[in-house]
Amino acid sequence: MAVTPKTIEDSGILPKGKVYIETYGCQMNFNDSEIIAAVLKHHKYEITDNPEDADVVLLNTCAIRDKAEERVLQRIKELSAYKRRKKPHMLLGVLGCMAERMRDQLFEKEKLVDIVCGPDAYRSLPVLIDEAATGQKAVNVLLSREETYEDIMPVRLHSNGVTAFVSIMRGCNNMCTFCVVPFTRGRERSRNPYSIIKEVDQLIEQGFKEVTLLGQNVDSYRWTDPNTGEVVTFAMLLEMVAKRSPWLRVRFSTSHPKDMTDDVLDVMARYPNICKHIHLPVQSGSTRILKLMRRGYSREWYLNLVSKIREAIPDVALSTDIIAGFCTETEEDHKQTLSLMEEVKFDQAFMFRYSERPNTYAARKLKDDVPHEVKIRRLNEIIDLQRKHSLERNKAEIGKVRRILVEGKARRSENQLFGRTTQNKVVVFPARDDIKPGDYVDVLIENATSATLFASKFRKVQDINEPEAVN
Ligand code: 5AD
Ligand code: SF4
Repeated sequence: MAVTPKTIEDSGILPKGKVYIETYGCQMNFNDSEIIAAVLKHHKYEITDNPEDADVVLLNTCAIRDKAEERVLQRIKELSAYKRRKKPHMLLGVLGCMAERMRDQLFEKEKLVDIVCGPDAYRSLPVLIDEAATGQKAVNVLLSREETYEDIMPVRLHSNGVTAFVSIMRGCNNMCTFCVVPFTRGRERSRNPYSIIKEVDQLIEQGFKEVTLLGQNVDSYRWTDPNTGEVVTFAMLLEMVAKRSPWLRVRFSTSHPKDMTDDVLDVMARYPNICKHIHLPVQSGSTRILKLMRRGYSREWYLNLVSKIREAIPDVALSTDIIAGFCTETEEDHKQTLSLMEEVKFDQAFMFRYSERPNTYAARKLKDDVPHEVKIRRLNEIIDLQRKHSLERNKAEIGKVRRILVEGKARRSENQLFGRTTQNKVVVFPARDDIKPGDYVDVLIENATSATLFASKFRKVQDINEPEAVN
């Protein structure tokens, strides 16, 4: 006998409720939100773009620097107040890297949130939501040694339909002394390469033209087949992905300099669809500071690696991360960072002032002794120098023909489109009726600022193997 559902919800047909997800932090976190959306959709939740429309509001949080945390805390307080005033039945959840620490503060002490869920516990979210809805304690911050969500096809949120992130590993074993990631995301583990290929193939089928392979340290990707003992390294994975289609561009992030292998450079040089851009965080130009950071390389070793990369891939673009004012950093150490920047001339950089993070080696054992004003001044010097270098690097593109993948309308003007070169530089050019996002276009670079290249002469690419040309 058929059982008649007691409520519409029990029928499992209609949506259970609407969920709004807000994401902070790195690309990895944005991809995690897409995994979260997939888990919830599978359990009949609907995803909404409007928090006011939502029954469940989830913040996927970042803990990398104090500023990131402050922003999230502010937002939680705002949402919690909104809930109390207007929508008492709404559930508020904290996900991701701040979950563990926020458990005590926001959940136990201040009772500002209803759900706390760490980066390895997203499969349990539907249960946590049910628990919270019935007034129970809904917390899962357990870290895992195995979870890679390999079988979950992410639901692409805010997608341009052209570029997508694909996680290839989770966690980090490096233990840089400044970094909280090993504590928030746990041990490093690599995802089954065949599940990665399956995801990439689905993306190709859906019309995507670019994937970025994501991990905290992609160069230490290493998967061993539990049955055959077969090993897949990052270089091998990169090649497997690049082979899926010549129309698919492949990017990856982040590389740790100490783990970058010749094999990876070799594969990059051999496949035109692997983008000629490496994000290679240096953090500091002083060997003494690098040692205190436990980065596993010296200034000279890093500079040597840069020469090797440029020799293997002459057209490569390099970007980096730099921290100003790490523990005990002297004026001389800071000058070393500036001089390393002068030697490398990075195409782009992400620059931060050091902020102490709980539990890290630096927080426990080193003194955060560079005064705030000094950190800010050094950071500004680094930023000014980088702006000069970005401009110089971009100006060097003028007169060159570059192939770009079109991503969408330019931010500043309806009549212009933008795309990226293989070097990850943004090019703005005039819109034309027959050119859409996902198309490849060859452009002649005519002008440049430190952030953008401009072109007016261009030609749509019909065959990906034809040489780059505008007429
Ligand atoms: N303070 C400042 N910057 C940090 N980063 C990581 N931890 C800290 C910290 N405690 C920066 C590093 C890293 C990037 C993702 O964030 O430069 O490469
Ligand atoms: Fe932030 Fe790091 Fe977590 Fe990414 S992994 S969200 S950067 S703390």
